[in-house]
Amino acid sequence: MVTCAWPYVYSIPHLGNLLQPLSADVIARYYRLKGHEVVFVSGSDEHGTPIEVEAIKQNRSPLDLTNEMHEKIKNLFKIWNISFDNYTRTESEIHKKFVSDFYKKIYENGLIYKKKITQLYCENCSRFLPDRFVIGICPYCKYDKARGDQCENCGRLLEPTLLVEPKCAICGNTPILKDTEHFFIDFPKLKEKVTTYIQNNPYFDKRIKIISLNYIKDEFQPRSLTRDNKWGIPAPFNEAKNKTIYVWFEAVLGYISATIEHFYPKEDWKKYWFNDQALTFYFIGKDNIPFHAIILPALIMANGEGYNLPHVISATEFLTFERKKFSKSQGIGIWIDEAIQILDADYWRYALIYNRPEERDTDFSISNFTELINSQLNDNLGNFVYRVLLFIKKYFNYEVAIPKGLNETAKILLEKRDELVDNIDDALKNVKLREALNSCMELAREGNKFLNETKPWDYIDKDIEFSKSIIYACFNLINSLSIVLFPFIPNTSLKLRDQINLSKEFNWDDAKKDIKTPHKINEPKIIFNKISEKYILDRLNEIRKINYLN
Ligand code: MF3
Ligand code: ZN
Repeated sequence: MVTCAWPYVYSIPHLGNLLQPLSADVIARYYRLKGHEVVFVSGSDEHGTPIEVEAIKQNRSPLDLTNEMHEKIKNLFKIWNISFDNYTRTESEIHKKFVSDFYKKIYENGLIYKKKITQLYCENCSRFLPDRFVIGICPYCKYDKARGDQCENCGRLLEPTLLVEPKCAICGNTPILKDTEHFFIDFPKLKEKVTTYIQNNPYFDKRIKIISLNYIKDEFQPRSLTRDNKWGIPAPFNEAKNKTIYVWFEAVLGYISATIEHFYPKEDWKKYWFNDQALTFYFIGKDNIPFHAIILPALIMANGEGYNLPHVISATEFLTFERKKFSKSQGIGIWIDEAIQILDADYWRYALIYNRPEERDTDFSISNFTELINSQLNDNLGNFVYRVLLFIKKYFNYEVAIPKGLNETAKILLEKRDELVDNIDDALKNVKLREALNSCMELAREGNKFLNETKPWDYIDKDIEFSKSIIYACFNLINSLSIVLFPFIPNTSLKLRDQINLSKEFNWDDAKKDIKTPHKINEPKIIFNKISEKYILDRLNEIRKINYLN
């Protein structure tokens, strides 16, 4: 079961937002190659104040906004080859019904109670101001644009009333306090169970454990499950008229409902959610850790029907763009609809995984991107493949020749290949995507080095068997590359399969199998082009001008 955080659907994702779907895609593709049954789901996070605030700004209904954006984003993910089995939305009927039943069950279990509270209320807009309807100063880190639900700067979860100098996000007025009634979920009752789960989860790394256990110590209080907003999923309790469920507490259940929807009306989803043999992967940004490592498990426990608790949570640090925060309003960043108009998705996929912020915040800059593409994809990978295939074309008339007994040098290369393929395998098993991708490139580097040292072109006349052996080993390396790169850069992988004329139905084990000869290849073609910063910036300007004119 592979999944990634559901993007808020109010705007097109930027390259930083792509990290989660992309990382999940790599893992989904990898496990499919390994022969596992995989289901990969996500969707649009449509409810809640972020969407409502944006819809109000655009003077349209939230549903009108999300209908348009959901379709756009879904199509973009297709172009990016994110291989979702189901990319759905929180407005889906199956999701709404699932959430409603799920909370009825928690209510029956006695973990939800009603309580009178005082909330911020904007007299100018005549509405309560939950979550992102209010902006103010974070009481912990003093960041001055903290939102009512969470401070983006320090990552802490907040309550609107905790904000210093709160302001209405719509009109800027200072709100007043007003009484209302809400349904609360009694998290402290689950404290021990959740703590034990976190401490004993063998898949959580130290960082996730520390963040989660700290959160439980300080912040695992009863939380209001309902909101006085119309946009959302109606709270399924008597006396909860006009109240909806807090967006986070329903969106995280989308992982389950999206799986149900994928198999509907068959019940195969149970294989993934009621089965201790099924492994679950969540790809998220670090600010989402509390919701996935604590809140989701707590909700599943409160519900009591026995859904699988999260196993692997892979949380990235932040990606900056040219050393600054991505920002739509300030035009800092590249957006995923723009990127694919500039270069094939694989160029970006490669660079994003290469720069995946696994241990620390990482910067994406156009100059590093250019240098990376030119030196790694073009000079290293592209050249290796092209050199070998051209050689086969030129000297062996497109045919990978049968070596009469592989020479020792060639055997050493193939041993090295086996070792590297195993390294990639291990790294992917441990969700170390950067390391895995680096080892893929190491394969190509070894290939280039091997060619330079053995110089098969010098032996065409003197000792053709030697040249054949060398080229045969190199050809096997290309086969391996085309397989191990599939999770990362699938377009390139399939282009390679075309050129080397091998089946596009392959599995991971084929990466270590030697090719049967004689074998004819197709026409060799250059797969990558060198790029320049200027080219990217010019294209970007062009695209933005066109969009602006539209
Ligand atoms: N939309 C949220 C964000 O962008 C993530 C939601 S993840 C889910 O931060 F699990 F709740 F869906
Ligand atoms: Zn207001």
